[in-house]
Amino acid sequence: SNIVVLISGGGTNLQAIIDACKAADYPGKVVGVISNKADVYGLTRAKNAGIAHCVLSHKDFSSREIYDQALIKQIDLYQADVVVLAGFMRILTPEFVQHYQGKLINIHPSLLPKYQGLHTHQRAIDAGDTDHGVSVHYVTEELDGGPVILQAKVPIFAGDTAEELALRVHEQEHRIYPLVVKWCCNQRISMHNDTVLFEGKAL
Ligand code: GRF
Repeated sequence: SNIVVLISGGGTNLQAIIDACKAADYPGKVVGVISNKADVYGLTRAKNAGIAHCVLSHKDFSSREIYDQALIKQIDLYQADVVVLAGFMRILTPEFVQHYQGKLINIHPSLLPKYQGLHTHQRAIDAGDTDHGVSVHYVTEELDGGPVILQAKVPIFAGDTAEELALRVHEQEHRIYPLVVKWCCNQRISMHNDTVLFEGKAL
């Protein structure tokens, strides 16, 4: 399958997926990387891996709708089968989300449905939680609200800073995201009426 990854930053999750694709039996390859920000390190990672990449800056478009149409055009040029959001810091229009329904996934650094939105690590610490983690989910029109495919938990230790906790979560992100992307590529998972099916059965 053709994987297109959307980024806005450093792209450590992108790197984890690129690396996973090197396995001979991995059922997909990253054919394109799109960033809404210029000069981010994730683009260098794409370049170093010989992967087609481009910047589509939201600042060059007059509305979210027109930007998302351009995004669709570019993703379809790459002939994507699976669209992976990896630190892509943009809210997507319902039109975009519907266009890729069932092949669009996101990674969110919390145990959803807890802590949708930003600053998840600090919020988990401030709440006195002892567990935190990461979720990979299908993208639906509700921000950070689509059905969860896979989560990984990490402990929160007394005295943890948000940075320390983020590092611990990142290790899990890099483990589970390539795995879920693989399941999308070999179609072991699918979404029906907002539920995730694994090999045709509800999780
Ligand atoms: C990750 O923490 C991910 O969970 C969130 O954005 C961050 C992206 O990090 N959605 P990177 O660019 O993959 O390093």
